[in-house]
Amino acid sequence: MPDTKAINPLTAGMNITQTPQPCTLVIFGGGGDLTRRKLLPAVYNQALDGELPANFAVLGLAIEEMDDTKYREFARKGIEQFSRQPLNTAFWTGFEKRIHYLQGSFDNPDIYVQLKQRLEDIESQFSIPGNRVFYLAIPPSLIETCVSQLKAAGLVMPVDDNSAFSRIIVEKPIGRDLESARKVNATLCNNFAEQQIYRIDHYLGKETVQNILAMRFGNAIFEPLWNSKYIDHVQITVAEEEGVGTRAGYYDSAGALRDMIQNHILQLLSLIAMEPPWTMDADVIRDHRQNILNCLRPITSENFDQHVVRAQYGPGFHHGEDVPGYRREAGVAQDSVTETYIALKVFIDNWRWAGVPFYIRTGKRLGARDASIVINFRPAPHAIYQSPPGAANRLVINLQPKDGLELHLFSQGANQRAPAGSRSTQTLAPVQLDLDFDKRFGTERVGAYERLLLDVLAGRLNLFVRSDEQECAWRWVEPILDAWKADAQGPRTYAAGSWGPSASSAMIAKDNFCWAEEC
Ligand code: BG6
Repeated sequence: MPDTKAINPLTAGMNITQTPQPCTLVIFGGGGDLTRRKLLPAVYNQALDGELPANFAVLGLAIEEMDDTKYREFARKGIEQFSRQPLNTAFWTGFEKRIHYLQGSFDNPDIYVQLKQRLEDIESQFSIPGNRVFYLAIPPSLIETCVSQLKAAGLVMPVDDNSAFSRIIVEKPIGRDLESARKVNATLCNNFAEQQIYRIDHYLGKETVQNILAMRFGNAIFEPLWNSKYIDHVQITVAEEEGVGTRAGYYDSAGALRDMIQNHILQLLSLIAMEPPWTMDADVIRDHRQNILNCLRPITSENFDQHVVRAQYGPGFHHGEDVPGYRREAGVAQDSVTETYIALKVFIDNWRWAGVPFYIRTGKRLGARDASIVINFRPAPHAIYQSPPGAANRLVINLQPKDGLELHLFSQGANQRAPAGSRSTQTLAPVQLDLDFDKRFGTERVGAYERLLLDVLAGRLNLFVRSDEQECAWRWVEPILDAWKADAQGPRTYAAGSWGPSASSAMIAKDNFCWAEEC
């Protein structure tokens, strides 16, 4: 029987002591998709689990015409459809009274005057001591306006004011390149202190992603092997089955490099490769992640062709059904050169990882949903056995949809014997040790947004990205974007439902490796 009350030993003891504080969560873009699918269900689940403070309220702010009653209806529908836990009607009746709405346009200064008044009313009704969290679930072009208007309206408390806090949460994408990211960060930092800014990368909120650190630094057995002497290469894959869906408006001008590599996947890479931190303090963790980004070998015109493959999905199949190619998706330009797939060969130029290639890839409309990290170890230095061709010792960290660890080893199979008189011809059988976290802990996973919202309320910054960390990632990604601008050929094509273009397999095959599903 799974021990449902067990504390996950992999994430326990992370020196996190603050608890969520009473506050009002103000959601700019309160009528949008992110709010309906993720934010309101996250708030609801945490409230239902008893994790939110009693004096807590939500104020949605958006252009859509709604009042409190209609907004509560909007919230209820979102929760019914997207919540981890079903709607509990008795609980909802009390909880919905804490949800409020203010209609208006973000570029109208009057709305900030009204916002201040509404906040004061809500705070006095629910005995909230003036703590405010502003969640910007809005297009990046509106960030500057919102942030400066909040400040101008006197809604931002100084960071050293102990009577109440103001915190701001910003969604990706922050910028399209280094320069625009710097601009957004400058605006944020001119109006809020860095400790008040929570830049969300929802991958950092996934428990499975946090388990990377817990596995590496909560166990002493991995560290001695975690370097170029024992690891010959690493693969990071985030494959999605879905196509662009209804998000073409954003995605067609972003592409896989901006959408996934610059943030989520470079974060995964940093967690896998970083040096052991001496504490879980936010700035220590963020410095360590950033050190890896600083060591990434630049992609230049000389190494570009050997290190980068970009592609776009053509027509194909998804679960046996015909699906259109990317250029035929609603809202996508028919001559779009946006990449929906990218594979990269990356080196981390430091002592630990010298010479170890990291192959990273992500794409939409691939053969299966799979996010995993495969650590491939070097063979035994002196072979007294034969191992099956292509097999290696591997540690596979499954992030989703499977969630667990696999250790691939070699073993003598039943009744196997080396031929009489031979010294070393016996072939070993590949075997696997499996740890399935869902089976082991038997508990339902708390969603990334739930965890991250609680962290903001508690003032924990570890799982949020600092401005310099983010700019480092852009600095490394930018030459790839520049090279594509100058490349008339555009992306290759792969069939929807496949595992990507053959050029990606060829890139890794040149180094005598194969992607995990091909080996
Ligand atoms: C988002 C990207 O940040 O992450 C999406 O914008 C992508 O394009 C999504 O589909 C993947 O997240 P998850 O949690 O489903 O792996």
